[in-house]
Amino acid sequence: MCGIMGYVGPQEAGPILVDGLKRLEYRGYDSAGVAVTNGSINVRKAQGKIANLEDMLEVEPLVGSIGIGHTRWATHGAPTDANAHPHTDPSGEFVVVHNGIIENFQSLREQLAADGSEFTSETDSEVLAHLVAREYDGDLVEAVRKAVALSDGAYAMVVMSKREPRKIVAVRKISPLVVGLGDGETFLASDIPAVLHHTRDFLIIEDDELVVVTEDGATVETIDGEPVDRDAIHVTWDAEQAEKGGYEHFMLKEINEQPAVVTETLAGRLDEDGTVWLEDVDFGDDYAAAIDRVWITACGTAYHAGLIGQEIFRRILRLPTNVEYAHELRYADPIVGPNELTIAISQSGETADTLAAARLAGDNGSRMLAITNVVGSTLSRYADDILYTRAGPEISVASTKAYMAMLIAQYLLALRIGAARGTVNAELAARVSHGLHQMPAALEEVLRREPEALAAAELIRSAEDVYFIGRGLDYAIAMEGSLKLKEISYLHSEAMPAGELKHGTLALITDGVPVVVMLTQRDVYDKTISAVQEVKARGGAVIAVAYDTDTEIDKYADLVLRIPDMEDLMAPVAAVIPLQLMAYHVARLRDNDIDQPRNLAKSVTVE
Ligand code: AGP
Repeated sequence: MCGIMGYVGPQEAGPILVDGLKRLEYRGYDSAGVAVTNGSINVRKAQGKIANLEDMLEVEPLVGSIGIGHTRWATHGAPTDANAHPHTDPSGEFVVVHNGIIENFQSLREQLAADGSEFTSETDSEVLAHLVAREYDGDLVEAVRKAVALSDGAYAMVVMSKREPRKIVAVRKISPLVVGLGDGETFLASDIPAVLHHTRDFLIIEDDELVVVTEDGATVETIDGEPVDRDAIHVTWDAEQAEKGGYEHFMLKEINEQPAVVTETLAGRLDEDGTVWLEDVDFGDDYAAAIDRVWITACGTAYHAGLIGQEIFRRILRLPTNVEYAHELRYADPIVGPNELTIAISQSGETADTLAAARLAGDNGSRMLAITNVVGSTLSRYADDILYTRAGPEISVASTKAYMAMLIAQYLLALRIGAARGTVNAELAARVSHGLHQMPAALEEVLRREPEALAAAELIRSAEDVYFIGRGLDYAIAMEGSLKLKEISYLHSEAMPAGELKHGTLALITDGVPVVVMLTQRDVYDKTISAVQEVKARGGAVIAVAYDTDTEIDKYADLVLRIPDMEDLMAPVAAVIPLQLMAYHVARLRDNDIDQPRNLAKSVTVE
């Protein structure tokens, strides 16, 4: 995600801001910028690495002791100089940096444009600078409050104005924000590591709070103006721990970010009645209605997300859907053609095989829709339609939160196509919408059950082989659980449809061999239980992932990882978390390098 920095004090702000932004580089970004007030507001910003910004500052230095800075990870608009933050209003008197998404930015932009505002970027963030300027009537805090009231979404915004030159006003609506308290100087940042070398005393700003930062400290109030008495915390973590938000590894941090990722992926895209708005999906209802077949292509975890998409599309759209590994599809003498929609899924948008398969599909007349996490990635540039997953930068090689966002994106796409084809009725659309909106809370609940996953990890940490079984959507999740386990724990594992076990693999199930069984699909529950009995009869150790209300499984399982009851169609979203946590803990118990597993790279840009 984007990084925020702010400084008020006696020192030159520019170098402090740039230094703080560098300390946030680990979060990933594609442009950087700073603004410093000194009579007027001066902005420097550049696409690419912070080094580009530094080169610019060397030629045109900024002078002044109050400023704000930002590293942007593009969500609205490509990573260009113009789209980089900070953004000013047309008069240049107000300047804003912003993390997160303004859901209603399009309508705000249209209103402002109708009143004569001219925009210099494609971002949602620029709207905030225009709004604050429009609402300003001698009180910056009041103007910010009014702008926030008009702006829907989950975000953090930071505002500075030459009209009130010795203060920074910031608001948190979900996206993180902290204030670092120095001696005669105050820092603002999206993350503690940015300023940990300056101070260890922090005010943590909570959701729907506004903070006014001056060199004397900070005052916190609710967005409605109620004073908040916030005690400072004293941080004892080292910088590396701080980057991981206090978690031991990025993977665990990213697993725990998943509820927020679901919120972010859905933001502004899904109404209660199931109506979907996908900003970069340009095909019309006529096209959607005429699709004969969907091809989903991807590699690794993204392929497993595609397996879920295949099930969803077949089930609720009744649309023939094939999912193919990209490295297979690219050599499968063109079987993709016109009237067929190809969906290429890739977190990085740079996986060589996925790019090749997507090109092959496009060259053969198929429309190509990219589901990717990286704005401006090669895949997104090649695609006819893009669905950005908005998971934020994923640092651990083992993909977790990006996978989660890929699942959510495909539910949205299914609703969008289903509405056009008339295969998703109003009742189903509303049910899916309700399930998705409830999902962050359900995921929080699953995350609270981490000790169950740790117990499962203890059970399998010394196993030679681990098997994962399930049917339908559960099989797709079993595939992902198995991959997660093998890539970080280095245990051999295999996933298969539960019905396939007796056709060969059962020969390998002997005393104590762990079998993880997924039991979230009620229509095939009894069938899956038959497979469980086959395992038990051979002495296998059964670890089940099951709903809270499933008491039947207690008769057979050595250990049950519980998820809250929900619609089977949506259960994969929750059911993957215990598997991620179990894999994580096995790897930890085996003392492996969790974030950088051996032999693996985050992005596979070679064939
Ligand atoms: C998953 O944990 C792996 N890192 C890997 O399977 C990954 O999903 C695959 O290489 C595809 O990457 P992409 O999503 O960036 O295309």
